[in-house]
Amino acid sequence: MSSSSFSSCASCFLQNHQGGGGGRCSRRTRRQRCPSSSSSRRQRRVLFLRACAAQRTSGNDDDLDEDEDATKTKQQHQRNEKKPKKNIAVFISGGGSNMRAVHAACETGEIHGQISLVVTSSYNAGGVEWAMDRDVPVLLYPGGKDLEESERISPSELNEFLKNEYKIDVVLLAGYLRLIPPELCRTFENKMLNIHPALLPAFGGRGMHGAKVHEAVVNSGARFTGPTVHFVNENFDEGKIVAQRIIRIDPSWTAEEVARRVLKEEHEVFPEVVAALCDDRIEFRETDGVGVIIDKMDSNKRY
Ligand code: GRF
Repeated sequence: MSSSSFSSCASCFLQNHQGGGGGRCSRRTRRQRCPSSSSSRRQRRVLFLRACAAQRTSGNDDDLDEDEDATKTKQQHQRNEKKPKKNIAVFISGGGSNMRAVHAACETGEIHGQISLVVTSSYNAGGVEWAMDRDVPVLLYPGGKDLEESERISPSELNEFLKNEYKIDVVLLAGYLRLIPPELCRTFENKMLNIHPALLPAFGGRGMHGAKVHEAVVNSGARFTGPTVHFVNENFDEGKIVAQRIIRIDPSWTAEEVARRVLKEEHEVFPEVVAALCDDRIEFRETDGVGVIIDKMDSNKRY
């Protein structure tokens, strides 16, 4: 994470972030709480944690075998070493298992990036505690009904935080249930990905999330399902598709069984696409702007 406003990570964000030391940040001071003051409060209140994002380390190339694939992977790593890691913001509303899968891939070096910010629509999202334990700053947006208007962050402030405060390069929606403000869609055009647990364009759109998706899939009699990764635009689940995985549905499976299998696939395909985005290995079809991944091992291959 980088910001000229951050002097150190010795204390909480509020103490450090005062416009370089002197200025007063009144709205923020009211709506952000120091997490060290009370663990129950941090569950209930808006979170904005430490100024230090955890430093990530990339994988150790010494472990790679010297076969052809490993050599190509190594070459990709070497190319990446010359570039700074991408700053990733992950938006969550739930358990955050996809966020953890992305984090794991950052740790191994598969993704040349680091999770620098988590944005949550709910204090209770499972991934919030996980992020806090790693000193990743967490921001509540847009906040529930219980949040006073004066305490809310506006779409412009959110945009500002991501772009200038945290220098975010890539935004990931990993189970985030709220609509993304149009200005954020514009700022992060072709840099914002969502993962959906069905084969879009079917079984998507407003209200289609969680168990409802898998129930609809099973009830329809569809014989195939699987996750879709797509770029984000202003409408739910409508951005251009960049990757999908297919699972054959056994007619005896319940929606829960389908959900379990799809989630497993999500944990593979999402990091793979994020890695491509962070490596600048996605190009856009001239005719319609569909994102196409350039193979990591063979730069002549597209999929
Ligand atoms: C996933 O099924 C994803 O496809 C959908 O929301 C769910 C999030 O799960 N958008 P998790 O919070 O990553 O575990």
